[in-house]
Amino acid sequence: MTQITLAPGKALTGACSVPGDKSISHRAVMFGSIAEGDTHIRNFLDGGDCRTTIEVMRGLGVQVDVLTPTELVVHGRGLNGLQEPGNVLDCGNSGTTIRLLTGLLVGQQFATFLNGTAQIRRRPMGRIVRPLRGMGADIMGRQMSEYAPLGIRPSRLRGVEYTMPVASAQVKSCLLLAGLYAHDLTLVIEPGPARDHTERMLAAMGAPVTVYGNKVSSERPRQPLKALDITVPGDISSAAFLLVAGAITPQSHITIRGVGVNPTRTGIVDALLEMGASITFTNPREEGGEPVADLVVATSALRGMTFGGESIVTMIDELPILAVAATQAEGRTVVRNAHELRVKETDRIATTVGELRKLGARIEPTPDGFIIDGPTPLIGAPVESHDDHRLAMAMAVAGLVARGQTVVHGAQVTGDSFPGFEVTLQALGADLLVEE
Ligand code: S3P
Repeated sequence: MTQITLAPGKALTGACSVPGDKSISHRAVMFGSIAEGDTHIRNFLDGGDCRTTIEVMRGLGVQVDVLTPTELVVHGRGLNGLQEPGNVLDCGNSGTTIRLLTGLLVGQQFATFLNGTAQIRRRPMGRIVRPLRGMGADIMGRQMSEYAPLGIRPSRLRGVEYTMPVASAQVKSCLLLAGLYAHDLTLVIEPGPARDHTERMLAAMGAPVTVYGNKVSSERPRQPLKALDITVPGDISSAAFLLVAGAITPQSHITIRGVGVNPTRTGIVDALLEMGASITFTNPREEGGEPVADLVVATSALRGMTFGGESIVTMIDELPILAVAATQAEGRTVVRNAHELRVKETDRIATTVGELRKLGARIEPTPDGFIIDGPTPLIGAPVESHDDHRLAMAMAVAGLVARGQTVVHGAQVTGDSFPGFEVTLQALGADLLVEE
């Protein structure tokens, strides 16, 4: 068990970078596995969830060479080259791994079993099982197929037209992958702009994946998928913790280099700008089909705002840290239409509210979000990560402005998505102590 102890009073200044994007790192390994030839990945996220994806693909017969923790070569086996695994595929704690992989595996000529930690076995899988069955997939899971473990048998897939009830990139990606093995077109209709890394990467590999407004289709490729050289952009979801830290900590000025700014992911920047944060994008460029920029943030006077509707999916992982910003904003912040927070690594409405209240925040849960009144002078206290990386980091950032000491227990999970989080904050000047 790791704990982080934080104290306020230090300005955060300087330049830093954040590790590679988690969503893109998973996809690079998975899609590289079904490409023809070697996919070279740089700035891969060396975090727990992405390492799980490497292990699972190895279990399916794919050779993955780890040159350095952040540089890999995936020796693609082609669309039909995966091999029957000798054991249950362990998807660990990773929702992206289990949901995308299921889409890939329903089209294979062999049976597979997928499982994960207790946390993953509590997360809903019916949302992928139902539409996959609509494609003819032979798949079942625990509790009327709502939860993992999942078992898959080979079947002949047909395309579907499927309107997703909730905007989810994992569901969309799962169906697009199954669509690569189906007999006719698969069309997914999204209620909101969920992250589009799958569409971008598969299209760059030459797969027949096409986007028309809020619809995206995939079908069986006529030629092999091309292996790519992929440099993964910095993860905006990790940068979000530094953006909020910079905005709420007095006399701060931080440059975060090389952050992915795909418009399906920048909701947190738009939200913070609306709240009055001083954030600028510099040096815009493109890397591997994804827009990238350096972000500069400075201490700002924030005001409360209301967030809901379609923008929520573009900042769904950032809502815990947005809540921390809202505690320091003048007036009321309301987050609504975010029911999906209830089925993340933890019920992030309950855990964010519960832990922030320990620091004295005025925050109320609602069925689909929270209401926060600010500004509140937070007071340091012991808090828990609940084994949720984003909650642990959100609470650590709150600790940078809370009077006295804040101790985040169970903080080893920060490495799931942001290995080096603590060192990065220390290098920027934070008063932070890590104890194993
Ligand atoms: C992800 C999609 C989102 C996000 C998760 C990563 C992805 O989940 O919360 O952290 O890589 O596709 P949902 O698809 O459940 O919204």
